[in-house]
Amino acid sequence: MAKTRFMTLPRHIDEGEKLHPSATGELSAILNQIGLAAKVISLEVNKAGLADILGFTGDENVHGEQVKKLDMFAHDALIRALDHTGHFCVMASEEEEDIIHIPAKHKIGKYVILFDPLDGSSNIDANVSIGTIFSIFKRITPDNGNPGTMEDCLQPGINQVAAGYIVYGSSTIFVYTAGHGVHGFTLDPAFGEFLLSHEDIKMKSRGGIYSINEGNYKYWHPGLKKYIKHLQAWDNHEKPYKSRYIGSMVADIHRNLLYGGIFMYPADKRNPNGKLRLVYECNPMAFIVEAAGGKATDGKKKRILEYKPTELHQRVPIYIGSKDDIDLLEKFIEEEEIAVTES
Ligand code: AHG
Ligand code: MN
Ligand code: MN
Repeated sequence: MAKTRFMTLPRHIDEGEKLHPSATGELSAILNQIGLAAKVISLEVNKAGLADILGFTGDENVHGEQVKKLDMFAHDALIRALDHTGHFCVMASEEEEDIIHIPAKHKIGKYVILFDPLDGSSNIDANVSIGTIFSIFKRITPDNGNPGTMEDCLQPGINQVAAGYIVYGSSTIFVYTAGHGVHGFTLDPAFGEFLLSHEDIKMKSRGGIYSINEGNYKYWHPGLKKYIKHLQAWDNHEKPYKSRYIGSMVADIHRNLLYGGIFMYPADKRNPNGKLRLVYECNPMAFIVEAAGGKATDGKKKRILEYKPTELHQRVPIYIGSKDDIDLLEKFIEEEEIAVTES
């Protein structure tokens, strides 16, 4: 927990960067700009339900401005906060088909950012937690002032230099890692600062929660079916695992990071690659969970962070959370595969 109430996000990032004598301060500046975008998005998310009441549904709001869907609002807020900073050579967003170039009038930098501007957006109208997820890399194309390319965006997750997320929930929390621990900052709405609330988050090696869309049960791998039944059985544990599924992976994984547990979005008969996006959702969450001592794989012992993306919007099956829970899940999958090949 926090040592002082006055450890703000900018101060913490600065102090973290000072631990690395070669650091230029650029990563600090980037994370601070993301913090700014997060505050703007948080404010907008908090008034989401007012649109109808105040009478600005439709195409124009009371100020004569176009009303954007919240996920597009978040997408634009991030681009506006980041494109002029001189730190990036290219960006990519779940909300845009192609890579996003830095406008010609701005300096080209050495970093690459990919983001899911609003994760769990189907939950917005029900006041349920949603979030923003981001992933930062250094460019791999030559840093000669030229724009970045698709190649810079399609790096394996192990190359990330930082990743983080913001959950807009009962409060707004910013969680990031830049290689030295995972830290959470809660937004004080009165004076608009993120304050350190969760220092050096470590994930339990075994949790007591499983998170999966159980409506898809009949399409699952038989090993996964057996694993879930195992978690539910009284005789296998002190008590059965709790089932918790928000339907916003960022919020589901945040809860499991704090309490311990496993989140799954598997491949199934209808979706051979699962649903979640490798570069916008799975890579950054895997980087954070691993930095907290957890694990993230495809269920067949391949680390999410070792996938080499081949396209921007590629999907990947994901099992992510407490280390022992992931290991056991993989055992169930493997045993079932062996049984199938032997029969
Ligand atoms: P997004 O809102 O960015 O499109 O992502 C939604 C994702 C993810 O947040 C969540 O875990 C998953 O969709 C839920 O999917 P199901 O409704 O299939 O369970
Ligand atoms: Mn998403
Ligand atoms: Mn999204």
